[in-house]
Amino acid sequence: MPQDQKPYYVTTPIYYVNDEPHLGHMYTTIAADVLARQHRLAGDDVFFLTGVDEHGQKVQQAAEARDIAPIALADQVVQRYETLWPELSIRNDDFIRTSSDRHKAGVHAMWKRLLDNGSIYKGFYEDWYCVPCETYWTETQLKDAVFPDGKTYLEAEICPDCKRSVEKIQEESYFFKLSEYQDKIIAHINENSDFIAPASRKNEVLRFVEGGLRDLSISRTTFSWGVPVPDDEGHVIYVWIDALSNYLSALGFPEDTENMKYWPADLHLIGKDILRFHAVYWPAMLMAANLPLPKRVFAHGWWTVEGEKMSKSKGNALRPADLLDQYESDTLRYFLLREVPFGADGDFSHDSLKTRYNTELANDVGNLLNRSLSMLQKYRDGILPAVAEEQSEDRALIADIEGMQRDVAMHLDNQAFHLALERVNQMVSHGNRYVAENEPWRLAKEGNDNRLDTVLYHLVEALRLIAVQLSPFMPIKMEQMLTQIMSKDIDIEALRLHDLAGWGLLEAGHQCQKPSPVFPRME
Ligand code: MSP
Repeated sequence: MPQDQKPYYVTTPIYYVNDEPHLGHMYTTIAADVLARQHRLAGDDVFFLTGVDEHGQKVQQAAEARDIAPIALADQVVQRYETLWPELSIRNDDFIRTSSDRHKAGVHAMWKRLLDNGSIYKGFYEDWYCVPCETYWTETQLKDAVFPDGKTYLEAEICPDCKRSVEKIQEESYFFKLSEYQDKIIAHINENSDFIAPASRKNEVLRFVEGGLRDLSISRTTFSWGVPVPDDEGHVIYVWIDALSNYLSALGFPEDTENMKYWPADLHLIGKDILRFHAVYWPAMLMAANLPLPKRVFAHGWWTVEGEKMSKSKGNALRPADLLDQYESDTLRYFLLREVPFGADGDFSHDSLKTRYNTELANDVGNLLNRSLSMLQKYRDGILPAVAEEQSEDRALIADIEGMQRDVAMHLDNQAFHLALERVNQMVSHGNRYVAENEPWRLAKEGNDNRLDTVLYHLVEALRLIAVQLSPFMPIKMEQMLTQIMSKDIDIEALRLHDLAGWGLLEAGHQCQKPSPVFPRME
């Protein structure tokens, strides 16, 4: 790695193994992959982590229901993920399993740090617990949550998040002195305006912390599937303390490994339901352990499917494998990030997917590619002519390409995927407008060779740079597109902006391929 490469560390949540992969898991992981690819393209030294969360009561119960050992269940689900991710062109640098020795070593080291500096003590715990959510609720929280008929969640003994039953529990437990971090967390959030995104979520977290932080129970004695508390094996470490530590254990923590250079993480991508864990508990743990905090936590919204909440009981959870039977992976990647502003909730519908594909990809990008390369074939045998006379509209096209490059980088820095794609689409429309206004077929008929050469060159060069910008989103399609333009095998993983982002790098005399459709229309 050259010295000047900036490390970039992006993570997804680690997914529970009590369930099959679904649309939600696929969504975060695709988003992380796009950012990882974008940063590799920009020349950064990227570490992209995903993995699975194998411990906890929920997983133990799911395994018991199937009459197998928890680790056997975990192995099955891990295999699903390991085949799924490449099918979606996910190129993670590592995959962490919480049952691995390297992870347990990290969790133990974290525990010991907290214990040694007095942040952990033993006490008694009595509270409400939601098994499906792995979440504890205080009496006050359950009392504050009220049904439309005025009944409180405490009276109903219902979890305010998932609306399923909560149970009352009392057990001996270790506690983490979370209450000591209330002011520090508030100060951190206020002083680091980029720490929590989107901005609306920041206020939600602030309100939660201002409401008061109680010490956090961080061990359990009621089940065994977890990382044992060091020197007190009747206790297992609370699954969230275990799980959150993955972001460090994957780097080799507590050893001073080469990969520790990636800490602090640049970005934890998560769903909105697990923001509190990432924006409050995790930072407090890190503060207690004297470790730097992640730079940013982005909480995305949730998908419904054809207007309905996805749920196991309804049987409408979208399985990535089924989606991949119907659509190409790049189409799914594009749709998920284009359809809904990252951070907002959204609805997956097959109709919207097809409409977006046909209008934005088949009609706009596909058409620009086809007509440009076809005209190049027809009028110049596929050989790129030299620019003969550049006019203001040509310069405007180049300026727009450069504007697109800047804007896409800025939008992706803010995780505004939909704006990045919208910006590329504007550029594509500009390209199609440029064709319509210049009428190359008329120039050919009139024998205006200078103008025709210039227009053809600008179209192909613009297409090349559009494909580069789209390559993190649709690596397979853009590899095909660039292959037609460059007439050579393209290794999409190896592209670097440094070598290819400048206008005019395609040389006159270069032979392009005959167009073949990259985005055939979907019926
Ligand atoms: N294991 C924890 C995370 C630990 S991270 C240190 C966990 N796992 S999970 O498998 O239940 O959920 C993983 C992610 O899926 C969460 O970010 C959650 O927001 C996301 N989604 C679950 N359902 C979803 C939708 N319907 N839509 C979008 N994302 C959703 O939580």
